[in-house]
Amino acid sequence: MALTPADGKATLSFSDGTPSLDLPLYKGSIGPDVIDIRALYGKTGKFTYDPGFLSTASCNSTITYIDGDKGELLYRGYPIQQLATQCDYLETCYLLLYGELPNASQKADFLGRVTSHTMVNEQMQFFLRGFRRDAHPMAVMTGLVGALSAFYPDSINLHDPAQREVSAIRLIAKMPTMVSMAYKYSVGQPYIYPRNELSYAGNFMRMMFATPCEDYKPNEVLVRAMDRIFILHADHEQNASTSTVRLCASSGTNPFAAIAAGVACLWGPAHGGANEACLNMLYDIQASGGVAKIGEFIAQVKDKNSNVKLMGFGHRVYKNYDPRAKLMRETCHEVLEALGLHDDPLFKLAMSLEKIALEDDYFVSRKLYPNVDYYSGIVQKAIGIPVPLFTAIFALARTVGWIAQLNEMIADAEYKIGRPRQLYVGSKHRDVKPIAKR
Ligand code: CMC
Repeated sequence: MALTPADGKATLSFSDGTPSLDLPLYKGSIGPDVIDIRALYGKTGKFTYDPGFLSTASCNSTITYIDGDKGELLYRGYPIQQLATQCDYLETCYLLLYGELPNASQKADFLGRVTSHTMVNEQMQFFLRGFRRDAHPMAVMTGLVGALSAFYPDSINLHDPAQREVSAIRLIAKMPTMVSMAYKYSVGQPYIYPRNELSYAGNFMRMMFATPCEDYKPNEVLVRAMDRIFILHADHEQNASTSTVRLCASSGTNPFAAIAAGVACLWGPAHGGANEACLNMLYDIQASGGVAKIGEFIAQVKDKNSNVKLMGFGHRVYKNYDPRAKLMRETCHEVLEALGLHDDPLFKLAMSLEKIALEDDYFVSRKLYPNVDYYSGIVQKAIGIPVPLFTAIFALARTVGWIAQLNEMIADAEYKIGRPRQLYVGSKHRDVKPIAKR
């Protein structure tokens, strides 16, 4: 969206003789103002320097708002608490994609469009079979999502709004099918086809847990928990994977390729891989002696030379608390209760670790609180989702956010290919010597 007129100006002065420069200042509807530096290089020959984007707004957006200090998360203005308790995931998808919550007929129409795309091209099974059975599900998902552009070439033109719409629906509809296929392949079971009369989350759980010889009866508490995991992970403004999707799509590549780039980025343990890393951390503590060893583990975390982190704690933006974590914690207790798992040693360990860390000055003084992944890992483990699949489920849920952000960027008249610059600190010009003289 074009930002005009400016809401003020910022004057930049220099100590090296460069004339001072007025830069336009813009206000958002809420949140920090931005200084528009687009003219800076042209007028001064200087770049700004912001590795990790600590002070850089890479775009303007109407989709998601986060206030990290207040612990607030809004999708299109609606608080996450209201969406998680009053809406389902597909309503949330509609909201993120089209800007408004659907009414009953819009919801029914959207549901119809999504469910008519839940199957994947049968040939994808053969593509999947090319992977090793012990491949990490995120390696498989990066491949499967990228491969959709080969299977659905009729919806790969990023600049055609109708094709973008079809690819959006295809991605939302097929992600649960592909994640469950990746799982079934890893355990050597036949793929289970989607059943469109089930809810989005219920259908996913059935494709995961049913077999041809035994159907899966969705448990309402667990289906609601899975739906909540999907809602809480649906979007999170310009995080690493979303920025990856935007940057990738800015070259004009197709939507499936851009979303595959998002999947690849999400895999990292500092981002979506944290829920898997968190469960593996709990297993390690349990193997070393369980609750009695928490003190030793916390001491390692505090030791700067150990490189050990308390996974599932801390967040780049939330420096007070993660509102998603509060909702997920509630769901976590509901699920443990429903499954009678409160006394399971792993879950007891998780709850003790949470309590100790929340009272420890190291974490309190650094404003390190549990993030959504601390509890979503525990919930998924309790439901029976294998740990390596956690991040794939995060990818499934985040797909709609990635698409909404990609669509917003492409529809923006001001959109340009993303091309950061750099501060070069390498060798100056030098000449190649013949190999004998190097
Ligand atoms: N365990 C121990 N110390 C930590 C942790 C942690 N999980 N997180 C941050 N710190 C320390 C860090 O060492 C630093 O200490 P000091 O000031 O003494 O040097 C201080 O807290 C500030 O940390 P930072 O590295 O500047 O924070 P950041 O904003 O760059 O990193 C983070 C945010 C999420 C990458 C980091 O907190 C982390 O690695 N957490 C564990 C991984 C995790 O759970 N990630 C999931 C994030 S939520 C899902 C999502 O949205 O993708």
